[in-house]
Amino acid sequence: MRPRVLSGMRPTGALHLGHFHGALKNWVRMQDDYDCFYFVADWHALTTHYEERDVMARHVYDMVIDWIAAGLDPERSTIFIQSRIPEHAELFTLLAMGTPLGWLERVPTYKDQIDKLKDRDLATYGFLGYPLLQAADILIYKAAYVPVGEDQASHVELTREVARRFNHLYGRHKDFDARVAAALARLGRDDVRYFDKQRKAYGETGSAEALAKGEALVRRAAAATDGWTDDDGETLLGHLRGSGRTILPEPQAMHTEVTKLPGLDGAKMSKSYGNAIAMREDPAEVRRKIERMPTDPARVRRGDPGNPEICPVYALHRIYSDAATRDWVVKGCTSAGIGCLDCKQPLVDAILAEQQPWRERAEPYLREPKKVHWIVEMGTERARTVARQTMRDVREAMGLSYG
Ligand code: TRP
Ligand code: SF4
Repeated sequence: MRPRVLSGMRPTGALHLGHFHGALKNWVRMQDDYDCFYFVADWHALTTHYEERDVMARHVYDMVIDWIAAGLDPERSTIFIQSRIPEHAELFTLLAMGTPLGWLERVPTYKDQIDKLKDRDLATYGFLGYPLLQAADILIYKAAYVPVGEDQASHVELTREVARRFNHLYGRHKDFDARVAAALARLGRDDVRYFDKQRKAYGETGSAEALAKGEALVRRAAAATDGWTDDDGETLLGHLRGSGRTILPEPQAMHTEVTKLPGLDGAKMSKSYGNAIAMREDPAEVRRKIERMPTDPARVRRGDPGNPEICPVYALHRIYSDAATRDWVVKGCTSAGIGCLDCKQPLVDAILAEQQPWRERAEPYLREPKKVHWIVEMGTERARTVARQTMRDVREAMGLSYG
């Protein structure tokens, strides 16, 4: 079993090159090594844009087509829509009961976004609670890793705190001691002795080494013991840490290498700044946009030398061009050997070449949108099976499994 990765994206419609280089590229790469769950965070979009009700459906499927175009493989990745899995909302509600208000008020993005999105009234309950909803998204799939940008790292940190608190409050089963005994009975005598030694050492001194040794033993036991269940493992890990059973494992933020892609004007590429090139932008439009890009204002006439360091075109060359081409730009620009239009041609070619496979992969889905609906349908079913199981555990742990 490969470790699970989970990430979500708000449905902002057709994605642009910045989305690809900032996140999607990594999502695609991670499919090789992880059990990937990727979802459309449509409820998250509502936390800031709750009054926009007609854009969502179109945006959701446009975005999923771009995911597939970029190389997400529905056979390997589970692709789904948040709002189709009501268990996210159930977990959010249950986690909300014990989450201190201060934890949410202190999330740095909370005040930042309120300041930034001044034109919106974000003094809502949903907006304050949104990182907790994110925690539910992550915990419900027991994700090991969450690839997020730096801006979201605090949300994963909150998720970890919420999980820790949950396990602490509810991890102690009514019959926890009996379960520990049953799991230990499956181990050999020497292993039991070794495990107890590590557990005591960790409990008394907090030794990270003892914790690691104990965890390693549980992992070994899982691989080598007939009839060993996940529950046995979680019970012993809880016993080891003195925290009870781990019902909701703490995820880790995965800081992948991200490329901040500058837009046509040199500022960060963003749809709302009007400086973006869509992933599946029409080739003629790509050419037009690049050819109209502003350059170093010092180059008024063809004979004026320029400075690539302050030119948005060169900022894109840094990402799209090899060393030889960049060298050609720097020399040609500073000596006025090339014109700006010349300088832009290799960039146009590189972007069109990058986009070509995306266009090809998207084509069958644009022709037959049902195909995308099917993929989402399948993914949602797969995700929901996992979410349902977690909710059974959660309800039981919280004493809600009566009747
Ligand atoms: N909050 C993320 C964003 O706005 C999207 C998101 C929602 C997410 N739930 C998530 C990301 C869970 C990672 C994991 O971009
Ligand atoms: Fe910018 Fe290239 Fe023109 Fe120099 S030659 S100003 S780098 S577009």
